[in-house]
Amino acid sequence: MIWFVITFFVLSVIAGCFIFPKLSPVPYFPSYKDIPGVLIDFFKKNKKEFAEYDVFVDLGAGDGGLIFSLAMKNRSFNWRYLAVEINPFLVFFMRVRKFFGRFSNLQVVWADFFAFKYEFSQKMIFYLYLSPEYLNKLIEFLRKKADGVVISYFYRPDSLQIIKAIKLKNGRYLYVCRL
Ligand SMILES: C[S@@+](CC[C@H](N)C(=O)[O-])C[C@H]1O[C@@H](n2cnc3c(N)ncnc32)[C@H](O)[C@@H]1O
Repeated sequence: MIWFVITFFVLSVIAGCFIFPKLSPVPYFPSYKDIPGVLIDFFKKNKKEFAEYDVFVDLGAGDGGLIFSLAMKNRSFNWRYLAVEINPFLVFFMRVRKFFGRFSNLQVVWADFFAFKYEFSQKMIFYLYLSPEYLNKLIEFLRKKADGVVISYFYRPDSLQIIKAIKLKNGRYLYVCRL
């Protein structure tokens, strides 16, 4: 009986993390699996430009699939990686992942990406996979403070200059834009 109550409680807490809009304003969906490899190739081809950057930030990092893969495989650059996520269950999952994977160059932050105190003095690449409404709001927020590159999966950021649109095997695009 006690195990039933504990299991029910734990499952309810996890479900709550995904149901309450405050903890999950945009539903969690992982990026397409090919994206880390595609981005690594793109960065390598444009090594001169991207060597100037300091930090790769995944805004709404989910379970960290994309950013952990980049932090592990993207050896051509000396970047730091910052995973910002509002859903506490996904943050817990990423922290466990970081603990076991010994990712010294990656920081996992539990925060609302509109409220986090970024070090805007550093040159940043922002990765976004969000709903169009959040995407546009976040771009307006970043534009006032940061200078760098935005990479958006799936949705085209209308207000930004597109440097490159990369077509993926699933027919969707990665939009690389100047902030
Ligand atoms: C579509 S998922 C993308 C996950 C990951 N970036 C990827 O590409 O695999 C969007 C994520 O953004 C998170 N999110 C939504 N609003 C947020 C906010 N205000 N601050 C931080 N994270 C947020 C959600 O919890 C969700 O995990």
